[in-house]
Amino acid sequence: MSEIIEPLRGMNDVLPDEARWWHRLERVVREVFAAYGYREIRVPLLERTALFKRAIGEYTDIVEKEMFSFDDRDGASLTLRPEATASIVRAAITNGLLHNQRHRLFTLGPMFRGERPQKGRYRQFHQVDVEALGYGGPDVDAELILMSARIWRLLGIGRVSLELNSLGTPEARAGYREVLRGYFAAHESTLDADSRRRLGGNPLRILDSKNPDLAGLIAAAPLLTDSLDPASREHFDGLRARLDAAGVAYTVNPRLVRGLDYYSRTVFEWVTDALGSQNALCSGGRYDGLVEQLGGEPTPAIGWALGMDRVVLLMQELGTPAPAEPPQAYVVLAGAAAAARGLGLAEQLRDALPWLRIETDLGGGSFKAQFRRADRSGALIAVVLGEDELARDVAAIKPLRHDGEQLDCPFADLPACLARLLGGPSVDAAAAARQDRDP
Ligand code: HAM
Repeated sequence: MSEIIEPLRGMNDVLPDEARWWHRLERVVREVFAAYGYREIRVPLLERTALFKRAIGEYTDIVEKEMFSFDDRDGASLTLRPEATASIVRAAITNGLLHNQRHRLFTLGPMFRGERPQKGRYRQFHQVDVEALGYGGPDVDAELILMSARIWRLLGIGRVSLELNSLGTPEARAGYREVLRGYFAAHESTLDADSRRRLGGNPLRILDSKNPDLAGLIAAAPLLTDSLDPASREHFDGLRARLDAAGVAYTVNPRLVRGLDYYSRTVFEWVTDALGSQNALCSGGRYDGLVEQLGGEPTPAIGWALGMDRVVLLMQELGTPAPAEPPQAYVVLAGAAAAARGLGLAEQLRDALPWLRIETDLGGGSFKAQFRRADRSGALIAVVLGEDELARDVAAIKPLRHDGEQLDCPFADLPACLARLLGGPSVDAAAAARQDRDP
């Protein structure tokens, strides 16, 4: 036997039994985005490294330590996207989406960061990402937060709480940076090598340090709230008033700075106490300077990203149901003539009843073996075709999950028979629904 090739650390397979929680999450977020008028955009997984360096910031953990970057054959440095915001802003600029227009967009997909893997933290992880480009007021900040709150409600997820902060304008932030520089410089001898480098580059990033020896120093650092400019304060108050009016609870966390450089004004994070240390479920904020920084016209913008892997873990932890979708019917075929008809019969049933999930036994074998497989499939009924049934132009229908009589159904009536037994829409209603959906 050949040697097995192991998967990469921090890159997970989602197996079929687990996929149903992903499906529920994906269905809910798509419904919510449709309900609020957000439209899907899909952007490449690979971009030029310079995009992420410029957008996320040279001194961030992501850019300094976590990006999967490599040179292509022409020597250009490329990076697997560590997040979606930079790519979506790039796409909006290069496709001319921002000429006198505003856009409310979302995307779903994998992101890549070379972090140390643990429960809830992976190297390939998945985000639902939403971005509102061209909107400057606190109303859109509130709408985005309401949208995330609705997602928790529809998923039946409790044990989440919302933290908010304002980082002020870039100018206010620049002022705060200098305040922090002064503070940390006075304690330079206690800083580690990373923080000393960040002291010269961006001292705000020292606040992200995970070194426990620095926790006390960081906790005592001056607060950004004290440097907030009046316009940002007004914006923040506007957001808070809207959340209060909508009944969304939050706490203001003046220590919330976020690990990416592009933020200004509103930042927020939904956290849970149910997942251990990887407690951030959905995070985001306003990035009014980013479009311009990436070469576009000045455009205010805000967005968030929800960590799908973490939300799926939480759904499982909290016992959120995610229905399995076993076949409703299973076709059992006895004898060569029936075996030849089986696939065609299932096709006709799928044509007539687009909602029907019907599995055909493959590979043959004894009646007993096929019924065992039918039973294991979770199907409610077996549609049985043997020589006797073929001779009479009928299929036998045998209930698998409840006591009941086996009954014969003429081929011509089979769709109506299944619709009645399985409680699905009738043949005519199913055809009309399909016409509506796929005209
Ligand atoms: P972020 O905070 O870096 O923000 O990531 C957003 C969410 O992705 C986190 O709250 C977390 O749930 C999930 N996440 C991040 N890293 C990992 C990981 N290694 N494993 C599993 N889940 C992870 C952003 O990415 C920004 N682009 C959000 C944003 C959009 N801001 C404005 N627009």
